[in-house]
Amino acid sequence: MQGILIIDFGSQFTQLIARKVRQLGVYCEIVAPDSAIHAYLENNTVWGIILSGSHQSVDDATFIPIPEVIWHTQRPVLGICYGMQAMVKSFHGQVMASATREFGYAKIQMALESPLFFDWQPGQELEVWMSHSDTVHQLPQEFKCLARSENGFMAAIEHKQYPWFGLQFHPEVNHTQGGTKILSNFLFKICGASKNWTVEDIAWQSIASVRTQVGHGTVVLGLSGGVDSTVTAVLLQQAIGRQLHCVFVDHGMLRYNDRLEVEMIARQFSLQVAYVDAHVEFMKQLQGITNPEDKRKRVGKAFIDVFKHYIHQHFGVEAKFLAQGTIYPDVIESGGGSRVTIKSHHNVGGLPANLGLELVEPIRKLFKDEVRSLGEKLGVPKPFLQKHPFPGPGLAVRILGEVKPEYIAMLRQADQIFIETLLTEKDGDTDTNWYQKCSQAFAVFLPVKSVGVMGDGRTYEYVIALRAVLSDDFMTADWLDLPHSLLKKIATRIINEVKGVNRVVLDISSKPPATIEWE
Ligand code: XMP
Repeated sequence: MQGILIIDFGSQFTQLIARKVRQLGVYCEIVAPDSAIHAYLENNTVWGIILSGSHQSVDDATFIPIPEVIWHTQRPVLGICYGMQAMVKSFHGQVMASATREFGYAKIQMALESPLFFDWQPGQELEVWMSHSDTVHQLPQEFKCLARSENGFMAAIEHKQYPWFGLQFHPEVNHTQGGTKILSNFLFKICGASKNWTVEDIAWQSIASVRTQVGHGTVVLGLSGGVDSTVTAVLLQQAIGRQLHCVFVDHGMLRYNDRLEVEMIARQFSLQVAYVDAHVEFMKQLQGITNPEDKRKRVGKAFIDVFKHYIHQHFGVEAKFLAQGTIYPDVIESGGGSRVTIKSHHNVGGLPANLGLELVEPIRKLFKDEVRSLGEKLGVPKPFLQKHPFPGPGLAVRILGEVKPEYIAMLRQADQIFIETLLTEKDGDTDTNWYQKCSQAFAVFLPVKSVGVMGDGRTYEYVIALRAVLSDDFMTADWLDLPHSLLKKIATRIINEVKGVNRVVLDISSKPPATIEWE
């Protein structure tokens, strides 16, 4: 590769750094701070290195030092937060826990000129985003301080001889004033990087490498109807045409329009799709099961069984390749890109190696926003690309406890009313509808009954909860404050139209501590 290397010390912001770098048109990869870096630097053209933040402190027993090889290469380095502190420690400076912590907005003042702050003069102030309790107390003699915070803490440093910089704040976070400009200065003025990352590049590279990988072989793709597997299907169709066979497994816990939308895309792009109706098998697996993890595992296993069976029956030994819509966050979060495993990728489409098929993952290096741009370039309709994520186990994790066909029917209808209303109602005078404003919205079925009154009679019926969140990466999320008038419209429709439901509640929990899904 030619690009920027991001060394991940475990910060929740590492992916954000990578996305910002790529949005500036420069390719980058995230790697773990281990011995493999040596070979990586030897085999790739690395224009510069960014050291991420961390959930750790440099004084922890498990402190991860910066691999020495980085200093030997003499390439430009930017240490962010922990990255700066670890840099200071590498040069025998002092980092200490401070009584005053800086979290959230902070003001910094420039002390010296630097190419990193190309557009700012000494004395100028910037509003930045901080998230630290340790601070640099003593700077190594090889470094100078470029800026300080209002509390007098060192906010930016630079090596006196080499292009090595440290920032105590987070330039990758939108709240940091001029953050993108600082990153851009690092990439283009300091590293001399070239713009080498456009959607066209991505498309052509992927198409070419898929053609080389599969030759004339038959490729089977599990199409879920989500954005990732759909963009993968359309890309593969362009690369290998009729060699691609898509399999859409309907587990009976899909949303109202899921299958229809897949059929529409399949027609538009002439995809060969086999629709496998397996809802009976899945319901059998879930009967009497109430534990969320058991439910997930059973859905996952049933999915693999159905898929495997279908492939053996229809392709036999002819199927050589299995395509998946794995994307970069799936790889990183499963520990594939960094030392720190955040969570195992739990997509039900994650099929096991024992299928005996070679994997084809053409969008493995892409972030979600890049997948959407690629989809747009390939002609996938925009509303489809803006679809909210939907968990592999589907409505099974949105029905608390045991899944029953009548619960699925009530939930599917309530969810459709919720989504339809969000799609049709605009936010004030803007062109944006409420569906586009939120990152994910859905209804949840609560199998508890409460008393109500309808007409002249009392009712004793189920509860639907509404969940709408804002999130950048789905690792953290905030609940979205939907207008009361909109909520009222949705609740009224659900109660009037969904038989068996007499109460609607709103979920106002953030993640953490709640998760986005209820199970
Ligand atoms: P949580 O509930 O962990 O969800 O806050 C974070 C994001 O992941 C999605 N999610 C899943 N996606 N299979 C998937 O493919 C799953 O089992 C699964 N569980 C959660 C969730 O919808 C949210 O976008």
